[in-house]
Amino acid sequence: MSTYAQELIATAAAMVAPGKGILAMDESKATCDRRFEKLGIPTTEERRRTYRELILTTPDLAKYISGAILFDETIRQSTQAGIPFVRVMQEAGMIPGIKVDLGAQDLAGCEGEKVTEGLDGLRDRIAEYYQMGARFAKWRAVIAIDTNIPSETCLVANAHALARYAAICQAGGLVPMVEPEVLIDGEHSIDRCYEVTERTLQIVFEQLRLNRVEFDKMILKPSMVISGENCRIQASVEQVAEMTVRCLRNNVPVTVPGIAFLSGGQSNERATAHLNTIHTQFGSQCPWAITFSYARAIQQPALDYWHGDDANIPIAQQLLSHRVKLNGAASIGQYTSEMERESVGV
Ligand code: 13P
Repeated sequence: MSTYAQELIATAAAMVAPGKGILAMDESKATCDRRFEKLGIPTTEERRRTYRELILTTPDLAKYISGAILFDETIRQSTQAGIPFVRVMQEAGMIPGIKVDLGAQDLAGCEGEKVTEGLDGLRDRIAEYYQMGARFAKWRAVIAIDTNIPSETCLVANAHALARYAAICQAGGLVPMVEPEVLIDGEHSIDRCYEVTERTLQIVFEQLRLNRVEFDKMILKPSMVISGENCRIQASVEQVAEMTVRCLRNNVPVTVPGIAFLSGGQSNERATAHLNTIHTQFGSQCPWAITFSYARAIQQPALDYWHGDDANIPIAQQLLSHRVKLNGAASIGQYTSEMERESVGV
């Protein structure tokens, strides 16, 4: 049993506290730069720092956000006034989290598939992040769907890495967010997504068990069961909610305290509506706390409005605040589509 047992249990419970979710703002330098380039924003450390300050200093963020996942560069940065981001979060009552994987690389022998790397030296990096104030971590595995993939090789390799990571986190005092993302890219049906998500979760929990990860001290961060982005028939919100809950109920142990979904390229409104419907129609069937851990579906309107121009920060923050509030409402089944039309700044 981890020497941090009680702390890990308390952190996991706080991460999924009722009405709150987790803000993913851990885009790697490369991903953040790619999103900036699309908008013509200079890809400098200073612009990335300013953007992260915009997010973390959004008024009332902590009302709906329990914790935020940072990237290595970000956890070392401070506001323009010199206050470390970690302290800004702690003082607002938000738990600092840290992305610790080092990204997905081609999986040798398995064309079109990836495996996430970053286990070497992880113990020491986790010790440093804990010292810096982080209390949870994230590792993302990506599972692509196509005619002949995913292979069992890919599922096992990724699940094994996720489990090794999670065990090292628990030994070092960080709650692991275990993130197996089944990608939305492709023409596959929702049934095929169900089948792949189910097999993924089965292998992930097998590996977690084998590596002695304690289920009551982790958070699962899955993708929803959803139609492929280019599938001709798009499942309804109700169907996504029903199949997602069914897949989780069949494959996730009840001792896992919380599930926090990624948005995975869904539109902002869809990601919120799906979470809400999971609560309104299927909440009573779920033994775990269920909330969001979105990046794009929370940040996109703010990033688009800011556009790298600091005169736009106050309104960009209002846009961020609005999405966070809507997702907070969805996390307790109190979101309505009318809330999308509330006027915000612009
Ligand atoms: P999205 O919500 O944009 O999918 O990002 C979540 C995340 O943390 C990806 O690893």
